[in-house]
Amino acid sequence: MPDLSGKVAIVTGCASGIGAATLKRLIADGARILGTDIDAAAGAALCEEAGARFAVQDVSDRALWNGVVREAIEAFGRLDILVNNAGIVTGASIGDVDDDTWDRVIAVNLTGTMAGCRAAIAAMKDNPGGASGAIINIASTTAMAPLPTDVGYSASKGAVRVMSKSVATWCAQQGYAIRCNTVIPGATETGILNAAEEVTPGLKAAVAATSPMKRLADPAETAAAIAFLASDECPFMTGAEMLVDGGALSIHPGF
Ligand SMILES: NC(=O)c1ccc[n+]([C@@H]2O[C@H](COP(=O)([O-])OP(=O)(O)OC[C@H]3O[C@@H](n4cnc5c(N)ncnc54)[C@H](O)[C@@H]3O)[C@@H](O)[C@H]2O)c1
Repeated sequence: MPDLSGKVAIVTGCASGIGAATLKRLIADGARILGTDIDAAAGAALCEEAGARFAVQDVSDRALWNGVVREAIEAFGRLDILVNNAGIVTGASIGDVDDDTWDRVIAVNLTGTMAGCRAAIAAMKDNPGGASGAIINIASTTAMAPLPTDVGYSASKGAVRVMSKSVATWCAQQGYAIRCNTVIPGATETGILNAAEEVTPGLKAAVAATSPMKRLADPAETAAAIAFLASDECPFMTGAEMLVDGGALSIHPGF
């Protein structure tokens, strides 16, 4: 198991799904956590149960990010890990997406992730003992195999992949030991997939049936990959991507 003892983490979108599983996993590995979510009631309840601190946050509100980072540092003295996990789907194709829907999904999934990276790096570079940290951004297999039914979600996740590499290489060039990597989940049994199922009934069963493993992911499996990237196990790994998709993107479409 990765050793995260002594480390301090922020996990966004911690109230549900992959975020909740990640928060629990990082605590089990020894980290102290500030969990954040736009859903105050569910986020606070989850954090209280898990033994984490909680803050209400809309990740798309750039003005809030420095305060969230400051809260983690005031509570725990440093910031080692940021998991940019919060995300939304829209169910809108290029045929019917309206401006507000497009702006919102880009604001949450892409701008929120950028603002998190920016605020975290500004703090991580001043960590006691020198600039250090690990940022894990959550993309999606839709970044490589986009959904015709969700143009904004697919575009936002594609942009998160590329942005993470820019963040990673800039930090490396500054001489900071701050890594930025991307986890790319496939279909995972969470609230977001249930929302997608409402737009496209039968989606979950269809995705599971075409997956090489014939099933959806458990959020704890994605959290395990995040915990590895959050740890010091491989300090040379930055700008990298970890697929947690049960092999879904690794098979010829004819099979
Ligand atoms: N479930 C999947 O199949 C799947 C696949 C690939 C990628 N992902 C990605 O995993 C991440 C987590 O999603 P999930 O599947 O756990 O979904 P989820 O809906 O269960 O959890 C998302 C959480 O983010 C929170 N959130 C939404 N908007 C927010 C905002 N503006 N600010 C702060 N918090 C906000 C929600 O309240 C919720 O708690 C997302 O980035 C998603 O795109 C999920």
